Amino acid sequence: MQKLKSIMQKEIFEQPSVVQKLLSLYVTEDDKIKIALPEKIENIVISASGSSYNCAAIAAPLFKEMVGIPCEYEYSSEFILQKKHFVTPKTLYIFISQSGETSDTLHALDIIKELGGMTMCITNAKNSTLWNNCDYKVLSDAGVEKSIASTKALCAQLLCMIFIILKIKQSRNEDLFIDLRALRRLPLYLERIIGNVDKINNAAKFVSKYKNIIILGNKNYYPVAKEGALKIKETSYINVMAYPFGEFMHGHVAVLNQKAIVIAIIDDENEISARRNIQKIKNDYSPQIVCITSVQSADCGDLNIYIKTSKKIKAIFGSLITLQLIACEIASLLKRNPDEPKGLKKVVKD
Ligand code: F6R
Repeated sequence: MQKLKSIMQKEIFEQPSVVQKLLSLYVTEDDKIKIALPEKIENIVISASGSSYNCAAIAAPLFKEMVGIPCEYEYSSEFILQKKHFVTPKTLYIFISQSGETSDTLHALDIIKELGGMTMCITNAKNSTLWNNCDYKVLSDAGVEKSIASTKALCAQLLCMIFIILKIKQSRNEDLFIDLRALRRLPLYLERIIGNVDKINNAAKFVSKYKNIIILGNKNYYPVAKEGALKIKETSYINVMAYPFGEFMHGHVAVLNQKAIVIAIIDDENEISARRNIQKIKNDYSPQIVCITSVQSADCGDLNIYIKTSKKIKAIFGSLITLQLIACEIASLLKRNPDEPKGLKKVVKD
């Protein structure tokens, strides 16, 4: 067992056991999901901030893909500026917050309650204002998160979002066996990711030499890339930008005229286009490239971190945790204290 360098690292390492704990809390042995949901949901709107917002953005496409429910998401700070909200009896408004006390998210909740909307929270804080004021409540129960850079709280929120999706499937009498088999294997998979420390620390060493970092991903992995960028910004103060892969090629790519490193997230769905775009980037700008990939054949980086799995849900968590570990190690290499980022504070309520 290696010596822990920071609270942030400790909380990253706790994630396999957080997943295990949530599985025992919300999934029965006979494959039932224990979460209370309204009966008929036609569409979902999510409001959240920071990492909780990134959780919403990662999960939203899964609602469409897995249960065919349209799901919008918005930064709470933007949501509260919106002039009109479309509240219907079958629209579920979900508010995600680690602390349950983030003022923009609470303001967004007030707006929807005032309009008579149906509300649900996912929060790590049972007696928080958010918890007390929502109609439906899901405790993300990651344990107190002390690190300012959120890691295990987001992992727990995301798992709760997946439980909600599975609960909807269950209400339609769909079989959950395959989904739950992948989730039950998630703690072990995450242990393996965390165990890949040499490869991850090598990548961090490589990346830490740059002042411009670009992280690219598609679909669910674009907000994963944004979350990775947020973690590096918060803990090392480097200006990291995240883009959807294909969109990056539309002009944004010109930033590679300056010295920069690219981190690319690849899975079997974007492999062909990612390889094509990486080749073009290499031909035109020759930056160093780190690939985080769940498919072994996508070894087109100067350094490749292989997070082997054929299951999308596992690859999402795997890429997320890999980026958290890279961020944490970059901070350590640059002699920053990730537990005390300058100018940032955290709301903690358990
Ligand atoms: C990121 C981070 C912040 C919070 C954001 C929302 O590491 O900690 O971006 O995610 O302030 O906080 P909660 O989830 O408490 O509403």
